[in-house]
Amino acid sequence: MDSKIDKLNKKLAQAHLGGGQARIDKQHDKKKLTARERVAYLMDEGSFEEIGALVTHRTTDFGMDKQVFYGDGVITGYGTVNGRLIYVYAQDFTVFGGALSETHAEKICKIMDMAVKIGAPIIGLNDSGGARIQEGVRSLGGYADIFYRNVQASGVVPQISAIMGPCAGGAVYSPAMTDFTIMVEQTSYMFVTGPNVVKTVTNETVTSEELGGAHTHASKSGVAHKTSTNDIQCLEDIKTLLGYLPQNNRETAEKLEIELSDEVRDVLSEIVPENANKPYDMHAVISGIIDEDSFYEIHKDYAESIIVGFARLGGRSIGIIANQPMSFAGVLGVKSSRKAARFTRFCDCFNIPLLVLVDVPGFLPGTDQEWNGIIVHGAKLLYALSEATVPRVTVITRKAYGGAYDVMNSKHIGADMNFAWPGAEIAVMGAKGASEIIFKKEISNAEDPAAKLAEKEKEYADKFANPYAAAKRGFIDEVILPKNTRRKLLKTFAMLEDKKVDRPKRKHGNIPL
Ligand code: COA
Repeated sequence: MDSKIDKLNKKLAQAHLGGGQARIDKQHDKKKLTARERVAYLMDEGSFEEIGALVTHRTTDFGMDKQVFYGDGVITGYGTVNGRLIYVYAQDFTVFGGALSETHAEKICKIMDMAVKIGAPIIGLNDSGGARIQEGVRSLGGYADIFYRNVQASGVVPQISAIMGPCAGGAVYSPAMTDFTIMVEQTSYMFVTGPNVVKTVTNETVTSEELGGAHTHASKSGVAHKTSTNDIQCLEDIKTLLGYLPQNNRETAEKLEIELSDEVRDVLSEIVPENANKPYDMHAVISGIIDEDSFYEIHKDYAESIIVGFARLGGRSIGIIANQPMSFAGVLGVKSSRKAARFTRFCDCFNIPLLVLVDVPGFLPGTDQEWNGIIVHGAKLLYALSEATVPRVTVITRKAYGGAYDVMNSKHIGADMNFAWPGAEIAVMGAKGASEIIFKKEISNAEDPAAKLAEKEKEYADKFANPYAAAKRGFIDEVILPKNTRRKLLKTFAMLEDKKVDRPKRKHGNIPL
């Protein structure tokens, strides 16, 4: 018996060594943790249970029968993060550069299937040279098996991807279909084709970092929702993010027990400037409303004219969407509409109530926006909010102009409670622009056109640059003092907690894509 136990122990020890010490050292030299170290750090101590440690590939071509490593380049299993069940896979770059083989894919699929059956999040730690070149189409089939499962799991259990090394070619499409992608700065990159192919096809000279590094994807493409400075920070980010999410689409996120002692917050009265054209930082409004230091921002460096992220309000997890007057006056554009639409849909999938803070002058004009489809991208946000059935609450802090008023969680598209601050301006457009159009003749015929414009501007502003025309019709449920916003929202979200909405049966809607 002893020899049989020895045999098992030897195999497991080999599995633990992955591609061997020399390759582990190489991984450390690149300032990267190994797959095993990452899993150990992510999970609660001692909670990780591995599945498939002794799996090997089945390829014999190209001398592969002589290169067999237990685990086949990916560590899979389950464990807990802060006491909650999580399924994880971590690609092991020390084994064939983490390249994906048929069996490697089967291991990932196995834990994805379990996660969906049991109802727990899936975390993928990616670090891979892509398809296992020696396996050809079998490896491509393996990718597709994962993609298919990503889609089946979408909206059922949260899926989070960390990119902790290379992720190229077809490999990029699994993270792209998960809910969140976090990239490690300097050591990770994602692209469909690398710099060499780019040079050949488009004659552009670009580095991997410029083409698909963490900064590029966090600020230019929006492919990355977050960047982390190193592996440890990335794993910490995953843990923090998980804290705001439920286990699956049948549950709600855990509510933390907190003392409510600071419901009235005077700081909120000081933020919005008197002059309606002056910017202010919407982050200050957010932190003035939520539980202290609880904001976890998503897509921080992408489409900055809108802010999205998770927060806690009275211990409840909520999603926040807020126009940012500091960036392009908070205008809605192609990227900001897509960003907010995607976030809305995530929150709605996983029963996370939405708070929408509005200070929006409208949609961004211009050929760039029109030719890039602002109509269809703006429609995404309109559609996503209109179909969301989670509790939805709006606070208009200042401007809510034009079609953007409708889109930003107005009462008309199904918001549950809509509040406005006393300085809110809810109108088709600003008073100056409106007066120039509707009093055009009167102004041009006047002895002093500038004085006439000022007079008409005041007339229009008195009528519409306030929240009362909307409040009269019930489009705004209540005009509230800024300092009372937190207290009001605490009560409102508690009141809406058991909201249920039944929609007519259909296969699925047809969101403008
Ligand atoms: N299939 C099989 N083995 C692969 C592989 C792949 N797709 N990618 C890397 N490897 C192996 C390498 O042969 C090497 O093996 P070794 O440890 O036995 O020497 C090991 O993984 C590490 O690769 P290496 O090239 O030394 O690492 P690097 O850090 O210098 O470069 C990459 C990493 C990913 C940039 C580089 O390996 C690469 O370009 N790989 C191919 C990417 C690709 O075209 N994939 C297929 C399309 S999806």
